[in-house]
Amino acid sequence: MPPDHAAIEAVALDLCSFIAASPSPFHAVATAAARLDLAGFGELALGEEWPAFAPGGWYVRRGGTLVAWRRPIGRPRHYRIIGAHTDSPNLRVKPRPDHVNGGVAQLGVEVYGGVLLNSWLDRDLGVSGRVAQRDPTAPGGVRGVLFRVDEPVLRIPQLAIHLDREVNDRGLVLNRQQHLVPMWGAAGPDAPAFRSWLAEVIGARPADVLGWDAMLHDTAPPALVGARREYLSAPRIDNLLSCHAAIDALRAAEPQDHIGVVALFDHEEVGSTSDVGADGALLASVLERISATCGLDRAAHLAALTSSHLVSSDGAHATHPNYPERHDPDHRIELNGGPVFKVNASMRYATDALSAAPLLAACEATDTPVQWFVSRGDIACGSTIGPLAAAHLAVPTVDVGVAQLAMHSAREMCGAHDPARHVEMLTAYLNGTGGAPDR
Ligand code: CO
Repeated sequence: MPPDHAAIEAVALDLCSFIAASPSPFHAVATAAARLDLAGFGELALGEEWPAFAPGGWYVRRGGTLVAWRRPIGRPRHYRIIGAHTDSPNLRVKPRPDHVNGGVAQLGVEVYGGVLLNSWLDRDLGVSGRVAQRDPTAPGGVRGVLFRVDEPVLRIPQLAIHLDREVNDRGLVLNRQQHLVPMWGAAGPDAPAFRSWLAEVIGARPADVLGWDAMLHDTAPPALVGARREYLSAPRIDNLLSCHAAIDALRAAEPQDHIGVVALFDHEEVGSTSDVGADGALLASVLERISATCGLDRAAHLAALTSSHLVSSDGAHATHPNYPERHDPDHRIELNGGPVFKVNASMRYATDALSAAPLLAACEATDTPVQWFVSRGDIACGSTIGPLAAAHLAVPTVDVGVAQLAMHSAREMCGAHDPARHVEMLTAYLNGTGGAPDR
């Protein structure tokens, strides 16, 4: 058992609150922003000029993406950046979702990301996201309004075993178009219609609801589980755990001679190519503007990037006790075993021998045990924002994460001791001096 169990459990419970407050990427950004506000960070608008030489912490956001940073002491020499993602695989409401079948009003949904489809069956589901609401007083005549409904308004029942006798031996096969359509009422004149229902939720006229980015979530709250509460069960552990730890670390970090940055990106689960994704221009342009506020011209900014370093934090696969053969036998990964450094020779992870060093130093300084993950040679390796951010910025990057099980299930599981360790490691990383090793 790690020391100071109460403090470690407090971090796990705080993570549970962070996750519960963040059913969509937009809510994750709002949750992170609220925590930064409490720590005295100020918000800047992407569309305005930023004040030069203003001390303290700042952040910008667009949709489901947020970039926050701490001003350095004096002229900065480089960046230390922590990247993570705010989105999780889920089911998203279609533009014309109202659907009637077999006397039931249903809601048409699309699969977002690599969903474990079966995990969305037989759960009480809420809806959350963002509405485009007509507003003549807003720029462009429209504004984005966050909404969330935690009442279980939707449900996708599984077919009874009596009507599918071979399911347990054959495996459950779900058609994405046909078998994942949630029920939400009886068909007929009183059948719910999504636009009017949503208008009522946000207190608008249906005609003023121009569109939505709406998604489903499990309404069961996160919980500590296990005989000694050593595990954490929650939706969206991938990757709100990393968002929570990164924001906590940035709040705790001291000003340094480098700029500490946290970048939380949307759209990782669908490849990161968007105006706010890691495979886009947003982070590079924000970093260049941060440099400008610190008195660096473009040449000085590019020089600073050369000696900068990035930590890409995302979930890692723990070795599943029921499926040990799916894992590399020499790289066993344990829940509560400490941060997992992820390596892949094909650069699906950005880690290399030298790019791992700054974070290993942070682990050493905080007595944090580390684990090393490689995928089995006969199982394709996943990827994350690490290689994309490394490529766009030309910054050495290490891919790391907290061990978890049931990745991409509607409800995942991790160790309850690891979140506190992750915060401690990332705080030490942001406080660390010296740039990336010369490659
Ligand atoms: Co992830």
